[in-house]
Amino acid sequence: MEKKINWGILSTAQIGLNKIIPAMQKGKYSNVYAICSRDLKKARAAAEQFGIPKAYGSYEELLEDDDIQAVYIPLPNHLHYEWTVKAMKAGKHVLCEKPLVLSVKEAEKLIALRDSCGVKAGEAFMVASHPQWSGVKRLFKDGTIGTLRTIQGGFCFYTDDPANIRNIKEFGGGAIFDVGCYPLMVSRMILGEEPVRLLVNADIDPRFGTDRSASLIVEFPSCTLSYVTSTQMAPFQHMSFIGTERVIDIPQPFNPPSDEKTRIFVTEGALGYEETSEIVIPPCDHYTLQGDEFSKAILEDTKETVPLENALAMARVYEAVVRSITVHGWADVQ
Ligand SMILES: NC(=O)c1ccc[n+]([C@@H]2O[C@H](COP(=O)([O-])OP(=O)(O)OC[C@H]3O[C@@H](n4cnc5c(N)ncnc54)[C@H](OP(=O)(O)O)[C@@H]3O)[C@@H](O)[C@H]2O)c1
Repeated sequence: MEKKINWGILSTAQIGLNKIIPAMQKGKYSNVYAICSRDLKKARAAAEQFGIPKAYGSYEELLEDDDIQAVYIPLPNHLHYEWTVKAMKAGKHVLCEKPLVLSVKEAEKLIALRDSCGVKAGEAFMVASHPQWSGVKRLFKDGTIGTLRTIQGGFCFYTDDPANIRNIKEFGGGAIFDVGCYPLMVSRMILGEEPVRLLVNADIDPRFGTDRSASLIVEFPSCTLSYVTSTQMAPFQHMSFIGTERVIDIPQPFNPPSDEKTRIFVTEGALGYEETSEIVIPPCDHYTLQGDEFSKAILEDTKETVPLENALAMARVYEAVVRSITVHGWADVQ
């Protein structure tokens, strides 16, 4: 039997209950061993629902369990840094939800702490584990689309519930930090480049003080990304990589269903539909793959799929986003 890593889940967050726990339970290298909550009853209910052996009534108690090697942190954004620090200091490997940090200073401190604690730490950008992106990378390498000129995309959904963490400014709410980080992430991943400067046109919700929608133009050294993101628009997601000869269209870039095939379209012709070929990716669950890749990195002492250095690069972009919104103009990514 394969050796497995014992995982502890920090909180009864929806993403954990709906996606991560069931997905990791299917993993080859991951064992969901414990869950905690600020409310023991909630932790016990979740443990019972998923057949998780241990339930704790505080995050601290879970971190004290010596049988746990790794923790998954799906807390509201403003708690990511604090609990990643506590978990690493407790000797645990950490996979923390995106955006792992919102400031460069915090990212730098986490990298130093990871190195002194000798643990693995990763940012849960599950898209990095989905094979459709290696498919896109291959298309680039093959020169299929000619020279890439621009990237366009979007990631939007609707919630105006004031209790939703996305609508609480002090929790790191807002569209860009919640879902607007994904078009940035996949563009950086595909280009292998970091943004140089960006311009954000944000619509700030007068009730919440968060960016309920935003349009961004992001300049990379070799091309430009433009996209829309929103917490108050009809659900929408899409990415297009537009080259001098063809276009790569990705209709399900961020939430491809785990039980269906995922498709990448390559089109050419004046109307864009004259000649379309498709690349079909067999069904897979990127949350299972994400958990297993991280467990394997611990077992084999290899690099994390999305290491803290990614959180640092993203934090540089987030700081530029905040500056651009503040000055209503272009901001350099420093
Ligand atoms: N990768 C993805 O596909 C994906 C998808 C959705 C969300 N996310 C990320 O996952 C994280 C959680 O999102 P979610 O929608 O699952 O959140 P959620 O359902 O609101 O859960 C957050 C959990 O944090 C705990 N918590 C601790 N202090 C809290 C406080 N002051 N206020 C509210 N909750 C507090 C609560 O658990 P207890 O009551 O049990 O302590 C709560 O259930 C976010 O960082 C988000 O960006 C990622």
